[in-house]
Amino acid sequence: MSATPNSLFRHYLDSLIQQGTTRTSLTDEARNVLRTWYVASRQGGRPAASAPASPEPPPLQAAAPASAPASAPAGKPEPPELFPQNREPASAITLPEGTMEDKLQYLRNLAQNWKPARELNSLRDTMVFATGNPHTKLMLIGEAPGYYEEVQQEPFVGRAGEKLNQILRAMGLSRDMVYISNIVKFRPALPNQRTNNRAPTPEEIEACLPIIMHEIRVIQPKMIVALGGTAAVGLLGEQGSVSSMRGRFHDLNGIPVRVTYHPSYLLRSDSPREKRKVWEDMLAVMERLDMPISEKQRGYFLPRA
Ligand code: URA
Repeated sequence: MSATPNSLFRHYLDSLIQQGTTRTSLTDEARNVLRTWYVASRQGGRPAASAPASPEPPPLQAAAPASAPASAPAGKPEPPELFPQNREPASAITLPEGTMEDKLQYLRNLAQNWKPARELNSLRDTMVFATGNPHTKLMLIGEAPGYYEEVQQEPFVGRAGEKLNQILRAMGLSRDMVYISNIVKFRPALPNQRTNNRAPTPEEIEACLPIIMHEIRVIQPKMIVALGGTAAVGLLGEQGSVSSMRGRFHDLNGIPVRVTYHPSYLLRSDSPREKRKVWEDMLAVMERLDMPISEKQRGYFLPRA
């Protein structure tokens, strides 16, 4: 199923809660949108779509012109499918000829002044692109840079990054053996912001999506790990929590995607049980990539008999 504004908004609130946020404010416009959803749900219908939904095009192909889905019952509009509908057609980014590095450099330059993201005025100015080895089988994708990432202009260098490094080490890997990126390339802004961070909104994700999709197209990894729900929902355009999406492989243009908890989740819930869940996802990734797995690795975070 595709992401709906409702599910994305709920996911966004969940991610705020996961980050310890207990209060948030709403603009009048947001309040009006919520009111419309509420009224529509009381009437047994769904919020009116601002534009008709379209069937999901393959994420890197040009989106077909929006048209009402054949299955939509008359008079009951389907909720708008934000990601499929608004994905930048692939033709909008024409990658240059050349090496993988040339193409990534092109995308990096493009991302720096990426109009759909800059026009939102809700993201900070410093771009954090990606790190690691583009000639890899394994690409890991998080949500957005935070304070430390912005300072160092490198993804996953703060506490979540340390946790990610530990996970990679347990797999027998290091940062320079994989490619690490984020779905949003700029730190989401907050008023009077210091070291505090927030999760990107659905609009911010949608605006940056063409860049990460083209990174994937350039790298052509054998496997993608989506770190956390924001990356998973954004990449796959599927609705759901990490718990419901992890534990199996998804498909993104023929590339298997494993969804797992964000490393910062393990900073908060560091029990062996939760670690084991992430570890089982990583074992599945290693198996699928034909990586050697020792008996010791297989037993990490299992309860002692
Ligand atoms: N969390 C992310 O999702 N990405 C980063 O780069 C850092 C923290």
